[in-house]
Amino acid sequence: MNYALIYVSKASQPMSAEDLRELSDQASSTNAKLDLTGLLLYSGKYFMQILEGDYEVLNTLFAKIANDPRHHSVDVLMGTPSTVRLFPQWSMGVIDVRNSAQIDAEVINDICEQAEQQYENVKDAALEALKLFTYTDVDNKNTAA
Ligand SMILES: Cc1cc2nc3c(=O)[nH]c(=O)nc-3n(C[C@H](O)[C@H](O)[C@H](O)COP(=O)(O)O)c2cc1C
Repeated sequence: MNYALIYVSKASQPMSAEDLRELSDQASSTNAKLDLTGLLLYSGKYFMQILEGDYEVLNTLFAKIANDPRHHSVDVLMGTPSTVRLFPQWSMGVIDVRNSAQIDAEVINDICEQAEQQYENVKDAALEALKLFTYTDVDNKNTAA
């Protein structure tokens, strides 16, 4: 069954461009092997990630991601069976939204803060934010500067 999962989390420490590139390289290579796709946004303070692919495969990897010391307070906003992939061409695009033309980092911070306070519509806001990157060129996937 194809599944889509969105979570937000708090970075344990600020991630440098080099840190993000390293994470992106490792994640892209593993996800490609596992036929998982998705996008990881970093706001300087929070992460927001969508992962798409086989339910079992995705959950096994997510258990590992959730225990990664580079972040904490992992909060799943959405976990749902899905027939389409939003990011079929990205094994894992990692975007530092502080350098992004599509979205303001404050928007991501707001969504993540609302998630902490368990507001209702935060899942829809997160999905909207992620969708802004749906058609971004694959060649720009490592926009962490
Ligand atoms: C915010 C965040 C997102 C991550 N996303 C992925 C991912 O999509 N795919 C992946 O393989 N690893 C991802 N990782 C890295 C994993 O947590 C883990 O370090 C990696 O799978 C290597 O695990 P291993 O050392 O047990 O092989 C992510 C880590 C963080 C902090």
